[in-house]
Amino acid sequence: MINFLISTHSGIRWLVLLFITWATINALMKRKSTTYAERDRRLNLLAMTFFHLQAVIGISIYFFSPKVQFFEGWIKQTMYRFYGLEHALLMVIVFVLLTVGHSKSKKADTPTKKHRVISLFYTIALCLIFIAIPWPFRTSLGSSWF
Ligand code: HEM
Repeated sequence: MINFLISTHSGIRWLVLLFITWATINALMKRKSTTYAERDRRLNLLAMTFFHLQAVIGISIYFFSPKVQFFEGWIKQTMYRFYGLEHALLMVIVFVLLTVGHSKSKKADTPTKKHRVISLFYTIALCLIFIAIPWPFRTSLGSSWF
């Protein structure tokens, strides 16, 4: 079961990256637009939902992963510090940013403001995701492409 969750978590990252990037570019391009279509709302919601799903799986893995271990001196070891602290904490911050950004966009009273709120919150979130992902070229983290 844990291996299945880890593989799912690893694979879904691409969907999360695709949708958050798509929603961010869409919002940035429409920053001056005077219309906020149903299509825009659905894209922003879908991007946030994929992230939420990924985070729920991530939080479940956190308690069973062999890469999360709190032995003496774990904080000084790159891989254990990354998964036990950096990856999880940054992703929780991204969770909050996307949720708050999406909620504020719903309350904004003009289409332009809706796009601007999404572009601000989703851009910051995307930057943090890029920092917090265990890219396979960071060999000390022991992750793979899928
Ligand atoms: C609160 C949110 C999250 C938590 C608590 C979390 C936790 C974890 C943990 C514990 C692992 C190590 C799994 C193992 O034993 O191999 C892991 C791996 C990973 N996580 Fe997350 N994660 C979260 C969100 C995310 C998000 C949003 C993404 C991508 C957009 C992501 C991408 C990955 C990737 C690519 C791996 C490496 C999988 C591999 O070994 O190939 N995580 N995560």
